[in-house]
Amino acid sequence: MIIDSLLQTLGDLLGPGGLLTDPADTAPYCTDWRGLYHGRTPAVLRPNSTGAVAACVAACAEAGVRLVPMGGNTSMVGGAAVPEDGSELVLSLSRLARIRAIDAIDMTMTIEAGVTLKAAQDAARAAGCLLPLSISSEGSAQIGGVLATNAGGNNTVRYGNARELVLGLEAVMADGTVFEGLRRLRKDNTGYALRQLLVGSEGTLGIITAAVLQLSPLPRQVEVALCGVASPEAALALFMAFRAADPSAIQAFEYMSGTGMALVNTLIPDAGLPLSEPAPHYVLVELATARDDGTLRDLLEGVLAEALETGGVLDAVVAESGTQRLAIWKLREEHSEAQKRAGGSVKNDVSVPVSRVPELIARATSACEALIPGIRVAPFGHLGDGNIHFNLVQPEGADTAGFLARDHEIMDTVCAIVRELEGSFSAEHGVGRLKPYMMPDWRGGAELAAMRRIKQALDPKGILNHGKLLPDASAG
Ligand code: MLT
Ligand code: ZN
Repeated sequence: MIIDSLLQTLGDLLGPGGLLTDPADTAPYCTDWRGLYHGRTPAVLRPNSTGAVAACVAACAEAGVRLVPMGGNTSMVGGAAVPEDGSELVLSLSRLARIRAIDAIDMTMTIEAGVTLKAAQDAARAAGCLLPLSISSEGSAQIGGVLATNAGGNNTVRYGNARELVLGLEAVMADGTVFEGLRRLRKDNTGYALRQLLVGSEGTLGIITAAVLQLSPLPRQVEVALCGVASPEAALALFMAFRAADPSAIQAFEYMSGTGMALVNTLIPDAGLPLSEPAPHYVLVELATARDDGTLRDLLEGVLAEALETGGVLDAVVAESGTQRLAIWKLREEHSEAQKRAGGSVKNDVSVPVSRVPELIARATSACEALIPGIRVAPFGHLGDGNIHFNLVQPEGADTAGFLARDHEIMDTVCAIVRELEGSFSAEHGVGRLKPYMMPDWRGGAELAAMRRIKQALDPKGILNHGKLLPDASAG
């Protein structure tokens, strides 16, 4: 059988520990973080160098066997979901885990795909620099996957999405050749920006093995506050007040609903609310500056005092220590975990122009409540860049499978409103396996046709991450 001889070749190539075939070993790779997909695979390949990745891809291309590239397996959209028919191999990047270089003068980091985002942040900090990319799953998410999905996260409002940080890239293409683009230049106009094509391509055009990331100066002052606010309009007004006071100081501006916060307070240990009473909505604001003049606290308190006086902010707490800052951030970061613990949840990772976030929240809330009475509407996310996770949790006591079976109905209800508000159905999590069905409607015509031609040109055998991002050839 073709697969047996391929596995023999791959086993020889990868050496001890490089090839997992025992179902007990491969099982953790076959289910996604959300538990939406449960697949099977004959083997997980664990190469430990770019050359070994290239050799694996070349052997699979030769045999016509498909690969699912996988990093930390934290995708929210089944971006690394393994198909149920057991026909595809998993290629894990976890053993490419070296930080190759950090240059504090150029402020660059050359890093392999399997390093977790958290480890990368820590290494940058140890070198006196900031890697300004932060997402809730950073403890497990790996650089390769973070770039392949063009992750956004909490600091997009200030530093942009992952792609804005990518100066250079190394990737294995679908035929096993290596794209050696690890340049670390701010200016490099030499034709098509292939690195940017690969960033955000969700592993469908090539497998990212390493990257050069742009670092920033470490902030010398950081301030974090949690505010209770009366409405999403008040949250937006607070954002504008901070922007008017000093736009360069805003490092994160996060919105949370009262429903989402209550789930965190109830279901996550040591995540109590540090305000005197619950509010209908919340904002987490983080300010930071590289200046060392002690004025950041004044800026924060000045804007908050005015907002408290006018009633825009109902209550606020300012972190007095690093521990308190982490405690406030925990309330935000644990939203996904709390919603997972609350039962079935349907996620809508959507974006709209910042000015339209309040309208999105109001209209999508009414529409979902009308669709499924008792549904728990728990939106949260990155208000500062217009990306809201319009997440819905099953009604209390409802049948989880029955609720999840209505996921397209719920997603389509929210997305119809997003469309009217000139937004996107896929903001920062990617399209993955969850949303290709939306592509013809949202990106059909010339755009989808061009994407298909690019896929055909770079991966003519359809080896890489089949069934993700692009819908079946028959659609759109
Ligand atoms: C987050 O910002 O915490 C994740 O992107 C969100 C999610 O669970 O939808
Ligand atoms: Zn997010």
